[in-house]
Amino acid sequence: MERSQGEAKEPPNREGIAAIARCYQGFDPAMYLRYNYTPPRADFTRTDSIVPWKLACLHQAFTEGESHTLVDVGSGPTLYQVLSGCEVFGRVVLTDFLEANRRELQRWLAGEQGSFDWTPYLQHVCQLEGRRAFPLTFQLVLPIDVHQPCPLPPGSLPASGADCLVSSFCLESVSPDVASFTAALRRMGSLLRPGGHVLLIGALGESYYMAAPNVRIPVVPLDEAQVCSSLKVSGLSLLRLCVYTLPPDMRVGVDDVSGIFFVKARKP
Ligand code: SAH
Ligand code: ADE
Repeated sequence: MERSQGEAKEPPNREGIAAIARCYQGFDPAMYLRYNYTPPRADFTRTDSIVPWKLACLHQAFTEGESHTLVDVGSGPTLYQVLSGCEVFGRVVLTDFLEANRRELQRWLAGEQGSFDWTPYLQHVCQLEGRRAFPLTFQLVLPIDVHQPCPLPPGSLPASGADCLVSSFCLESVSPDVASFTAALRRMGSLLRPGGHVLLIGALGESYYMAAPNVRIPVVPLDEAQVCSSLKVSGLSLLRLCVYTLPPDMRVGVDDVSGIFFVKARKP
């Protein structure tokens, strides 16, 4: 019997995974932030700009429940993805594969001069939530590798697992093929307690993105059906799927993304 592509039963594509890890050595946090987290992609005066769309999805999903530990998988140099979670989770753990990205986040947490200015993001989320200030509940930035059987350092999480996971633009951009994407999703799900939730944001139809002027990271192009099938194979139940299609002026030459998905799923 033939196995479907998403089933992740084939041997892991170690060479492909190692090749992507080598590409990541050229990732430049400052350039990545400029490409994706400044206008037009982060234009708070427009509702059809990418970042306001993502923040609205996250705001809605996070305000539907309350719990203790939230883990952000593959934070990169960004923290917009956990802002709405800060009010509802007592503990927020940021994670990334690269030391350069963990350092970028630590710099912001330490209030260092010259770090990326997240103020417009904080203000926008305060506005969405109708409040004036932020309880910043994240202090920890841990190393992670979603291709390892234990992605996080031992003892980082409660024995039962995290209450919620969020991950944005990570799994498809660290996986050489759909089988590796599915395997990474399944491994990520193993960090979650039964009954916990996953919020997954990612690129549709993307084959690469630029992580510095000459650093092209390969991405496994996904469509909605593949995302749904990978969730199913990983034992996660889909609760909501929203899709954003890029207006022409959001195609700014830093990738070939055609759309963005937002998923809320639950581990039974
Ligand atoms: N979450 C951020 C950053 C996504 S960029 C955002 O929404 O913009 C993709 C991130 O995946 C990078 O920060 C990169 O360092 C990280 N990464 C690379 N290899 C990884 C791996 N094997 N496991 C987990 N994360 C990885
Ligand atoms: N925003 C952050 N990362 C992205 C990616 N890889 N593609 C499109 N938009 C992004």
